[in-house]
Amino acid sequence: MRLVLLGPPGAGKGTQAKVLSKEYNIPHISTGDILRETVKAKTPIGLKAKVFMDKGELVPDDVVIEMVAQRVAKPDCEKGFMLDGFPRTAAQAEALDATLTRLNRPIDMVLFFKTSVGTIVQRLSGRRVCRNCAENYHVKNIPPKVDGKCDKCGSELYQRDDDKEETVLYRIKVYDKTVPEIVNYYENKGALRTICGDFDVDEAHDYLSKLFVKEGLK
Ligand code: AP5
Ligand code: MG
Ligand code: ZN
Repeated sequence: MRLVLLGPPGAGKGTQAKVLSKEYNIPHISTGDILRETVKAKTPIGLKAKVFMDKGELVPDDVVIEMVAQRVAKPDCEKGFMLDGFPRTAAQAEALDATLTRLNRPIDMVLFFKTSVGTIVQRLSGRRVCRNCAENYHVKNIPPKVDGKCDKCGSELYQRDDDKEETVLYRIKVYDKTVPEIVNYYENKGALRTICGDFDVDEAHDYLSKLFVKEGLK
């Protein structure tokens, strides 16, 4: 099962990918999570990426393209993978196709989470993330059992720097400028499947499970 999850900030890509990754035992590759790790580790890439991420701008294509090319070539991607937040530009989509063709690991399906702006703002203003394991929570929708602590590892939860309202609105603008082109790209290839991003977590999961069965994906 080789999937791409497309959708605006707060669409629930990361939340669904984490569940599916466990269920199907395939890696969840989130370029946002990988970049946040490099920022935390203060690597040269991280220091460069932070400037873009804090503003809600896209990190330059060459950085993310190389990152993903290395990741999908790893042995644990032989059984499949889920790309979350990549590709986001036409150049990234083309580079991904070239890499996956070379590896003989083509994409099976692209899931597009079509989401309303009201949902995006509500979700991102309440999102909390685990500093240690990157698990996602929401103060109202998906609260942790103990306030401010991760259910999985007990570490502290924090609010992402780019979840400030003004940055969220800017990220939506960036999304509107870049991603519709990718949606068309995959639609023309016949790979696109649209899911309502406003579904609650279980509804979205049920919808996807049924879709995978219908389309013969395992
Ligand atoms: P990234 O981390 O990818 O952020 P994003 O695309 O803006 O997406 P989000 O992570 O905000 O949303 P999500 O869809 O994963 O939602 P989630 O499941 O967390 O990218 C961050 C930055 O990195 C970019 O701005 C850019 O600078 C850089 N970057 C990353 N990839 C790049 C690329 N390819 N090229 C260039 N730059 C790149 O859910 C959100 C909240 O809602 C959570 O609180 C969750 O608990 C809750 N929730 C989730 N689902 C539901 C539901 N169904 N019902 C109710 N609540 C829900
Ligand atoms: Mg995410
Ligand atoms: Zn944790």
